[in-house]
Amino acid sequence: MFTFGDSYIDTGNFVIMAAPALPVWQDKPPYGMTFFGHPMGRISDGRVIVDFIAEQLGLPLLPASLQNSSDVSKGVNFAVGGATAIDVGLYERNKLVQLKLLNNSLNVQLGWFERLKPSICNTTKGCRDRFSKALFFVGEFGVNDYSFLWSAGKTEEEVRSYVPKVVQKIAMAVERLINEGAAYLVVPGNPPIGCSPTMLTFRSSLNRTDNYDYIGCLNDINRVARRHNSFLRLAIGALRVKYPHTTIIFADFYHPIISIIEKPNRFGVNGADALRACCGGGGKYNWNASAVCGMPGVTACKNPSAFVNWDGGHFTEATYRYIAEGWLHGPFADPPILSAIRH
Ligand SMILES: *[C@@H]1O[C@H](CO)[C@@H](O)[C@H](O)[C@H]1NC(C)=O
Ligand SMILES: *[C@@H]1O[C@H](CO)[C@@H](O)[C@H](O)[C@H]1NC(C)=O
Ligand SMILES: *[C@@H]1O[C@H](CO)[C@@H](O)[C@H](O)[C@H]1NC(C)=O
Ligand SMILES: *[C@@H]1O[C@H](CO)[C@@H](O)[C@H](O)[C@H]1NC(C)=O
Ligand SMILES: *[C@@H]1O[C@H](CO)[C@@H](O)[C@H](O)[C@H]1NC(C)=O
Repeated sequence: MFTFGDSYIDTGNFVIMAAPALPVWQDKPPYGMTFFGHPMGRISDGRVIVDFIAEQLGLPLLPASLQNSSDVSKGVNFAVGGATAIDVGLYERNKLVQLKLLNNSLNVQLGWFERLKPSICNTTKGCRDRFSKALFFVGEFGVNDYSFLWSAGKTEEEVRSYVPKVVQKIAMAVERLINEGAAYLVVPGNPPIGCSPTMLTFRSSLNRTDNYDYIGCLNDINRVARRHNSFLRLAIGALRVKYPHTTIIFADFYHPIISIIEKPNRFGVNGADALRACCGGGGKYNWNASAVCGMPGVTACKNPSAFVNWDGGHFTEATYRYIAEGWLHGPFADPPILSAIRH
């Protein structure tokens, strides 16, 4: 398995890349409290989606590429928290972000893949052979791109205008990997970030009337996420026509989250907690920018599996497990991963 993406599937790159330039709390307890028992570079209380998928395929949990693991023969994870589809320079040059960003966009991750290739395979034919038997993940990408724009106060129309560019970057990466021999690729769409405690808190701090949907999520933000997903599906459709020998799977990251928030009790989640983070520093959504998970004194809920959201911007292991199951067996992947790779 070779995986590219952001914090939803990162297995340790952000923690390595960010320190000491940025303050890092994700390598402190209670991160990892549910599964590993200690922080393990995942931005969750335990395993993330690609961990469950690796387990199901009988592979070891993927090492993060920046760990310099001596064994990458079964795969490696290039995903890193905060990663964008569009090069980060665009957000910096246009002053859309205040901070210096980590240089971790999709293109940079593809560069890491190129550099690591000699430790995986040596000849063009050998590499193509190897990659044709691997499962690639390209994404999720887009959430960080759109989040920077929303946080910079851009209107829905302005954020929406980025959708074709973001989707084009993802499609180009898929195409580049296919040209290297990849034959099985999973391309996840965007989750409903209009339901995330970070976005909900940010919006409620502004003096404006926001438009909430029937489950309490932000309509404009989720509309852009859905638009991204429709564009991405179209782009995947075009790639399937162009490369009929490949299997390109669209993985739905949107509806599994919505289905939990819609009927939380069915998933063991208390209705009042459906839009609240398990680990956080208080407030309506239990997310507080000055007291985030991992900081001293910030505590987690007793039972993270009774929450959808872990730390404000990321999901609990229980949510990731549900998504992984839906991608492996259906109904949240087209086609489901297990049926696709059995051919
Ligand atoms: C990985 O290798 C690079 C290049 O040799 C080095 O700069 C980096 O510190 C190493 N990272 C870790 C986590 O050991
Ligand atoms: C990020 O790194 C790539 C090469 O890895 C480089 O071409 C690009 O200019 C860098 N971007 C920024 C904003 O530093
Ligand atoms: C590639 O070639 C180098 C030098 O011959 C060798 O040390 C290395 O083990 C080879 N890598 C693979 C994955 O076969
Ligand atoms: C919000 O805007 C209204 C009308 O301009 C003003 O009266 C009120 O004080 C503002 N509230 C906050 C919290 O800024
Ligand atoms: C957020 O955290 C800060 C720092 O701990 C605290 O002063 C503030 O009261 C908290 N806000 C809420 C809404 O809990």
